Amino acid sequence: MFKPIKPFLILLLSYSISAKVTAQSSLPLYLDETKSIEQRIEDALSHMTLEEKVAMCHAQSKFSSAGVPRLGIPENWMTDGPHGIRAEVFWDKWDQAGWTNDSCIAFPALTCLAASWNTDMSALYGKVIGEEARYRNKNVLLGPGVNIYRTPLNGRNFEYMGEDPYLASKMVVPYIQGVQSNGVAACVKHFALNNQEINRHTVNVNVDDRALYEIYLPAFKAAVQEGKAWAIMGAYNKYKGQWACQNQYLLNDILRKEWSFDGVVVSDWGGVNDTKQAIYHGVDMEFGSWTDGLTMGTSNAYDNYFLAKPFLRLLQSGEVKEEEVDRKVRNILRLVFRTTMNTKRSWGSFGTEEHALAGRKIAQEGIVLLKNKNNTLPIDLSKTKKIAVIGENAMKVMTVGGGSSSLKARYEISPLDGLRKRTGAQAEIVYARGYAGEVSKGQDGLGTGQNISDNRSPEELVKEACEVAKDADFVVFIGGLNKNDGQDSEGNDRASLDLPYGQDLLISELAKVNRNLAVVMISGNAVAMPWVNEVPSIVQGWYLGTEAGNALASVLTGDVNPSGKLPFTFPVKLQDNGAHKLGVYPGNSEETYNESIFVGYRRADKEKISPLFSFGHGLSYTTFQYGKVTADKREMTADGKITFTISVKNTGKREGQEIVQLYISDLKSSLPRPVKELKGFDKISLKAGEEKTVTFTVDKTALSFFNADKHEWVAEPGDFEALIGASSTDIRSKTAFRLK
Ligand code: GLC
Repeated sequence: MFKPIKPFLILLLSYSISAKVTAQSSLPLYLDETKSIEQRIEDALSHMTLEEKVAMCHAQSKFSSAGVPRLGIPENWMTDGPHGIRAEVFWDKWDQAGWTNDSCIAFPALTCLAASWNTDMSALYGKVIGEEARYRNKNVLLGPGVNIYRTPLNGRNFEYMGEDPYLASKMVVPYIQGVQSNGVAACVKHFALNNQEINRHTVNVNVDDRALYEIYLPAFKAAVQEGKAWAIMGAYNKYKGQWACQNQYLLNDILRKEWSFDGVVVSDWGGVNDTKQAIYHGVDMEFGSWTDGLTMGTSNAYDNYFLAKPFLRLLQSGEVKEEEVDRKVRNILRLVFRTTMNTKRSWGSFGTEEHALAGRKIAQEGIVLLKNKNNTLPIDLSKTKKIAVIGENAMKVMTVGGGSSSLKARYEISPLDGLRKRTGAQAEIVYARGYAGEVSKGQDGLGTGQNISDNRSPEELVKEACEVAKDADFVVFIGGLNKNDGQDSEGNDRASLDLPYGQDLLISELAKVNRNLAVVMISGNAVAMPWVNEVPSIVQGWYLGTEAGNALASVLTGDVNPSGKLPFTFPVKLQDNGAHKLGVYPGNSEETYNESIFVGYRRADKEKISPLFSFGHGLSYTTFQYGKVTADKREMTADGKITFTISVKNTGKREGQEIVQLYISDLKSSLPRPVKELKGFDKISLKAGEEKTVTFTVDKTALSFFNADKHEWVAEPGDFEALIGASSTDIRSKTAFRLK
C-alpha cells in the first residue's frame, strides 16, 4: 500500500537538502554560523560602508553603539555593573528610565566574592549575573573590576578583589567564564592603574615596571589569557603621559602584543579625548564622551564624538588609512559574533529566586569572622531571649548608591530584617539607631525608598542605644561605611581610615554595658578599630546585596559556619600603608607609586608592621590543626615542578571550611623581593574530626619576579621556602627547597 512512498521520500529528502544548500549559499557568509568567526568578520567587513564602520566605533546613546541595520548586524548594548544589572537608563541621560521590568537581583560586592577565596563561587557568580544580563538583552557586562587595593581610602575598593595579584587573578577567571557562558561579554576594568577615585580623570600614574607587572597587571593578564575576556575597559587616569583609554603602552604594546588580546577595548565613559590618539592607540569603542569633545554638555552629541565625524573626515580625506577603522571594526564584529549573533547562546533568566539564593551562598562564603573571644558568636538562640540590634547599617539600604554599580534591586533584606526573620518567636529583637549618617540622596533618579532622617543628637542616640543594650542578652552592633559620597563610592575617596558618625564612641559605650557584643562592619574597605580590644567579637560583613540580612543572620546564629578570609590588610593606622607612608597619594596631575611592589602584606612583612587584621585572616566556629608540610623533592629544576603536601584536621565540634594558603619566599635574590608572596590556596571542607591532605604543585612561575631590564620573568636559582599559612601572619609550617 505504501510502496510508492520510498521514491517520494527520496525526492522530499533531496529537495530539502538542496533547499538547505541554496538557502545556505544564498545566505551572506557573515550570517553563516558554519563558517569561522574570522571568515564571517572579513565577509561582514567587505559589505560595510565607511560610514557604517565608523558608526560602530562610538556610542549612539548612553549605553549602546550602532550595529549595521542594513546588514542585520545588531547594536551593542552595554550594562553596568559588576554586582548586578543596572536599571535601564534614558537614551541620553544617566537617570533610570522608570521601567517596571528591570528590577534585578543585587549580588554581593566583589570584595565579598574575593573574601570567599572560592573559585566555585566565582563561577557561580559569573553564571548568574551573566544570565541576568542575557535576559535583559545586554551583550556586554561592564565588569568585573580588578584594580589592586593600594590604599584603604579608595572609594571603589568594594568593587574590586583586594590587594594580592595572585588571589585576584584566580578569582576573576571563573567569573569571566561564567558571564561569557551566556553569550555575554565580560568587560574587565579599569585597565590600568585606577587605584583611587580622587583625581581619577587627571592623575598621571608613575609606577616602576616591576610593580606594574608584578602587582597591577596580573589580574588583567589572567582575565585575558585564562579568562579569555571578550572586552576590556580602559581607565580614566594617565600612564606615561597618555590617557589609559588611548594608550600605546597599555593597549597596543601590552594588551595586544604581549598578551595577544583579541577582544574589544571599550573606553570608560568619557575616557577618550583626542581623535588621533584614539585612532592609533588601541581603543575600539568610544563611550560616554561628555560631549562633542568641544564643549561641555551638548546633548545627543554622538555624531560629534572623537571617533565619529572627526574620524570619518580623516578617513575620507585619506589622511588616515581605512585599515585603522577596519582594525577596530574587526574587534567589534568579533564581539558581535561571540554574543548577539551567536544563535546558540542561552536565553538567560532574571530576578529569580535561584539567583537570589546564589547571592546568599556567595555572601555566606565571603563573610569574615575577624575576632571571636570566648566564642561569643554564634548567638545561642536556646539561651538568648532578647537581642539588641544597634546601628544605622542594620537597616540602611545599600544596593542604591556608590556610583555606577548602583542597582534597582527586586528586594534587599536588611540585617535587621534578616535577624528578625531568623529568630522569629525564639528571641525578641529590639532596635536602636545608635548613630545617624547623612541621608542617602539616592542615585540615577532612584531613591532608597527609605526616609531615615533622624535629627536627634549623637548623645541622645548613644544614650538610647545603651539603654536598649544594657538589659539585652546579646547585642549586635551593625555599622561600618555606606555608599554615600566620600565613603564606599565612585568618584571620591574617604578622607580618613576612621569610622564616620561617632561609631567608635558608641561601640566603646556598648562594650561597657554588655559583654555579649558582636560588632558587624558593613563596608568595602578596612577601617580603624580603636575599640578592637574592648569587644569580644567582630565580623566583616561587606555589601551583601539582595539577600544581605538572610546571609548575615545565618552566620551570626550559627546556621552557617563563617569561612571567608580577608582579601586585603587592615592596617592599624594609615601610615602603616605604603601609599600613605611613602606616597604619592592622592597626587594631582602627577602621582608616583613610591612603595613599588610593597603593597599590603608585602609591606607589612618588609617593615615588620603588625596589621590590625592580616591579609588572609578569618576565623571559624570550629578549629583547624595543620600538620607539617613536606616537599616531594629537595631541589627542583627550572623546567620542573615541586609538590608540597600538608594535612589539615578539623579539631572542633562542627563542620567548617578552611582556606589553606601557600606562600613562597625567595631567601636570596639579586633584586629586593617581598618576604613572601601568595602562590596557592585551597578552600577545603572538613567534618568535625575529619583530616584531609592538601597538595600544592608549582613550577618556576611561582618563584619568579619581573626583571624590568630584561623585560621578562626570571626565577633565580637558589634557596626558597614554601610556607603554609592560615593567614599571611599565621604561618603553620614551612619547608626549604632549592631551585637548581
Ligand atoms: C563610570 C565607571 C565605569 C562604568 C562606566 C559606565 O564612570 O568608571 O566603571 O562602567 O562609567 O557607567
